[in-house]
Amino acid sequence: MVIIKTKEEIEKMVLAGKILADVHHKLRDFIKPGVKTIEIDKFVDDYLISRGATAEEKGYEGYPYSVCTSVNDEVCHGFPSERVLKEGDILNVDLVVNYKGWLADSGWSYEVGEVSDEAKRLLQVTKECMYKGIELAQIGNRLGDIGYAIQEHAEKNGYSVVREFVGHGIGREMHEDPQVLHYGKPGHGLRIREGMVFTIEPMINQGKKEIYIDKNGWTAKTKDGSLSAQYEHQLAITKDGPIIITDQGDC
Ligand code: MF3
Ligand code: CO
Repeated sequence: MVIIKTKEEIEKMVLAGKILADVHHKLRDFIKPGVKTIEIDKFVDDYLISRGATAEEKGYEGYPYSVCTSVNDEVCHGFPSERVLKEGDILNVDLVVNYKGWLADSGWSYEVGEVSDEAKRLLQVTKECMYKGIELAQIGNRLGDIGYAIQEHAEKNGYSVVREFVGHGIGREMHEDPQVLHYGKPGHGLRIREGMVFTIEPMINQGKKEIYIDKNGWTAKTKDGSLSAQYEHQLAITKDGPIIITDQGDC
């Protein structure tokens, strides 16, 4: 069941979203060669506490950390660890902020130092995929319109769309209905209505779409070892179009 949100509820999520956008801005300076991914976890935790917020991922279905840090061939749910980031890595940091009971979810990809042209292109196209989806998040459109636009853009560029993880409704709970697939057919799927709040978070692989789950039980990786990228925003559907709850202003 899709839980429709009021204007007031959306405003509460926007407050959580502002904190989350600020975290991502700070991470842009923090992430560089030599940093361990566990240090990102601590940095985010400390920052959220300073803002009166908490990291909702910690303990979610047993997830052990405050953030997901997915490097190179890791698709999502990478565990922060003693792994040292090195020049040329690409990294996604995904986290969910809880501020006064309302949630904001956004994952952003980062370049560590100077990265290859191929990596840059993957990041660019993945970001474009997300924004193409966001443009179509309009009252009266269908979720299949979003999925189709994302898939088309990814595949046109020689990439593939991961199927196992999808966008989702969100509010007081991290995962609500509907599921928002990043592939699909135009004119199919649920019709988009005012007051829906959901994420669009395509995971795009440089190679084939197949993934496997690491022995830690969480981390998804590309089967062929190719790079994977992801961008995620959370949106509220209004008469004037989508509000990007986790907007970061200049990126
Ligand atoms: N932020 C992720 C999402 O987009 C959730 C990660 S699952 C968790 O849905 F266990 F790490 F929280
Ligand atoms: Co999400």
